[in-house]
Amino acid sequence: MYSRIIGTGSYLPAKTLTNFDLEKIVDTSDEWIVSRSGIHERHIAADDETTSDLAMHASRRAIEAAGIAPNDIDLIIVATTSPDKTFPSTACILQDKLGITSGGAAFDMQAVCGGFVYALNTADMYIKCGQARTVLVVGAEVLSRMLDWNDRTTCVLFGDGAGAVVLQASETPGILAGKLHSDGRHHALLRADGNIRHGAVAGEPFIKMEGQAVFKFAVTVLSSVVEEVLAGTGMKGSDIDWLVPHQANIRIIEATAKKLGLGMDNVVATVAQHGNTSSASIPLALDTAVRDGRIKPGQTLLLEAIGGGFTWGAVLLRY
Ligand code: UT7
Repeated sequence: MYSRIIGTGSYLPAKTLTNFDLEKIVDTSDEWIVSRSGIHERHIAADDETTSDLAMHASRRAIEAAGIAPNDIDLIIVATTSPDKTFPSTACILQDKLGITSGGAAFDMQAVCGGFVYALNTADMYIKCGQARTVLVVGAEVLSRMLDWNDRTTCVLFGDGAGAVVLQASETPGILAGKLHSDGRHHALLRADGNIRHGAVAGEPFIKMEGQAVFKFAVTVLSSVVEEVLAGTGMKGSDIDWLVPHQANIRIIEATAKKLGLGMDNVVATVAQHGNTSSASIPLALDTAVRDGRIKPGQTLLLEAIGGGFTWGAVLLRY
C-alpha cells in the first residue's frame, strides 16, 4: 500500500508588499534583501483573513483538483505556527469551513517551517497503517502578524499564504521515502516566545532569529537528510526531476541543489515572489509548478525543509 498525491491547491492573499515598500518602513534596501535572500516580494493577509481562511481556499482548490467530495476526507492535518486560536486546532476550524461532517480526525502539526514535511510524512504513515484513506495535508500561515515591523533582520523575510494536497491510498507508488529529525538544543536560535499566562501575553510575541547560525545549520542538515532519504531507496540525485524545497533563502536552496548535482532548472523556486511562508512554502511551490505544467505525473520529486526547533526532514515521492 502506498499513498499518492491526487490533487494540489494553494492560495495567496491579494495584497503584496515589495522590497521597495519595505524600504519605507525599515532601514533596508531592495539590493540587500535580494542579494542575501532572493526575496523580491511577499503576500500579506487582509486584517480579517485568518490562517484557516487561507487554508480553506487552498484546500478547496486541492479537493477540486483531486476530484473528490470533502466528506471523502477522513483525516486533516494542518501544519501551522500561526494558528487561528490557542485552541481548538486550526484543522478543526478548517474542517467546519469545508463542511466536512464525516467525523474523520483533524489536528494541527507544529514543526514551524519543517511543518509540511512533518505533516506529509505523518499522513503517509496513517495511510500505510490503514488508519486513514484520504488525507488533506495543509500548510498555512499568517506570519505577518508575528513580525516586529521595526526589526529589519526578520520583517523582510516572511510572508503569508497556504498550500494543500490531497493524499490518498494507492496501489501505485506515490510517497517513496521520508525522514524526519529534530534537535531541541537549538530551540533558542529561531523562536517566538509569547504565550498566554493568567490572561496576558507573556514574553515577546514576535519572531526572533539568529540568521547566520540558522543558515549554517540549514545548509549542513538539509544536505545530509536529502542524501539519507535517497540512500534508503537506492536512488541518486540525478534521478530527481524536481527539488521542491522550503523557500527560506535562495542561497540555501542553491546549496542543496548543488549537493544533489541538480541545476536550478530542476528546482522549483518561489522564494522571490512568496518570501518565507514557513509551513506553507512547499505546498505553495508544489501547486505553482503543477499548475504551470512544470511538474508532470510520474515525475520524481524531493521535498525538504528545516524550521525552528530545529526540526528538519525530507520526503521523496513519485507525483
Ligand atoms: O525558515 C526557517 C529557516 N530559516 C532560514 O533558513 C533563514 C536562514 N538565514 C538566512 O537566510 C540569512 O542568515 C539571512 C537572510 C537572515 C541574513 O543574511 P546574512 O547574510 O546571514 O546576513 P547577516 O545576518 O550576517 O547580516 C549582515 C549585515 C549585518 O550588518 P553588520 O553587522 O555586518 O554591520 C546586519 O545588521 O546585514 C545587516 N542587516 C540588514 N541590512 C539591511 C540585517 N538585516 C538587514 C536588512 N537590511 N533587512
